[in-house]
Amino acid sequence: MNLETFIKEHPLITEEELKFYSDKALQQTEACLPEFGKAFKSIFSTDGFYQVDENKYWTNGFWTGELWLQYEKTRDERFKEAALWQVKSFKERLDNRVAVETHDLGFLYSLSCVAAYKICGDELGKKNALRAAELLNERFHEKGQFIQAWGPLNGKDNYRLIIDCLLNVPLLMWAGQETGNEEYIEHAQQHIETTLKVIIRDDYSTYHTHYFSPEDGRPLKGVTHQGYSADSAWSRGQSWGVYGLALAYRYLRDEYYLELFDRLLEYFLSHLGSKLIPYWDLTFQDDSGEPWDSSASAVVVCGLLEMAQYVDEAKAEQYRAVAKILMKALADECAATSPEISNGQLLHGVYGKKSPYNDCISHGVDECNLWGDYFYVEALTRLTSDWNPYW
Ligand code: GLY
Repeated sequence: MNLETFIKEHPLITEEELKFYSDKALQQTEACLPEFGKAFKSIFSTDGFYQVDENKYWTNGFWTGELWLQYEKTRDERFKEAALWQVKSFKERLDNRVAVETHDLGFLYSLSCVAAYKICGDELGKKNALRAAELLNERFHEKGQFIQAWGPLNGKDNYRLIIDCLLNVPLLMWAGQETGNEEYIEHAQQHIETTLKVIIRDDYSTYHTHYFSPEDGRPLKGVTHQGYSADSAWSRGQSWGVYGLALAYRYLRDEYYLELFDRLLEYFLSHLGSKLIPYWDLTFQDDSGEPWDSSASAVVVCGLLEMAQYVDEAKAEQYRAVAKILMKALADECAATSPEISNGQLLHGVYGKKSPYNDCISHGVDECNLWGDYFYVEALTRLTSDWNPYW
């Protein structure tokens, strides 16, 4: 996939369209304040609508993050008040150890609590985020040189990493910079190195997850949980890889990440359907009858805009152009532009879909999901302002 050809062949989102969709996105978040200002949203919508749910999932930080993005756009105190209420809830979650035996502490605490600290110097946000980083650091296995994804430490079946964690390690790197604790940065870097070694195949598609031997830490096998099969490329996994490499570069400046970023991106772009939205696994094409996963595309747009800051101007122009092409497709096909259609932002996502070859269940299929919403609004924010990431 040649980026130049890709750019020539497709329309970019215009400034007017960006304004239109940003205003619609703001309207969508605003319409949720009465119901969700002091509450959390379910992981995904049902028939387009989220319900109130508890702060006990890996996804809760995305709604808080969306509120922070809209606060930064408008300086409307209602968004800040809601987000700060949630920051208090994230403290209780740590105090009561509610579902914190997970690497998703990064998703949870970067977008809620690091954001609170960066935007308004909120000390509780900082404290929460540092506590979460310490828990994340405890999940690092010296033997295998990786951060364990799920479940209690040292559970035999859980001695593995997943590609998604590339978005969790920025919390550790931020905490390392903030505290001067070099171990945090070392563990994050070692985890990234191990991930890149085992998770990327020769054709630059990716495994979702990789097991290691609990006895001696040797890599055992790559498989999938949410992708179609062990050998296919789960669309969201590939997108976690793309954005994860950009964030790794942000902190660590390893030239090798730039090269891998291009290869993973090319694989993603060359496996999109004709509407430029990925099906939920990149193995599927237009004749498959399978649903899209819009959220994967939103994640890639953010990755492109992050990486555009670190490359020469010609390359940056290309990344921004590709981001605008993907964004046009995403907004035109998937934006929820009225609270009557949905109380989310981005339609047509997939949380998990059962296949004969994976071990997940079907849920949140062709629905909004909280990360799709968040990354869509982050992408709009990046395209319309000079934004300091919460990552
Ligand atoms: N991190 C879990 C998922 O992407 O579904």
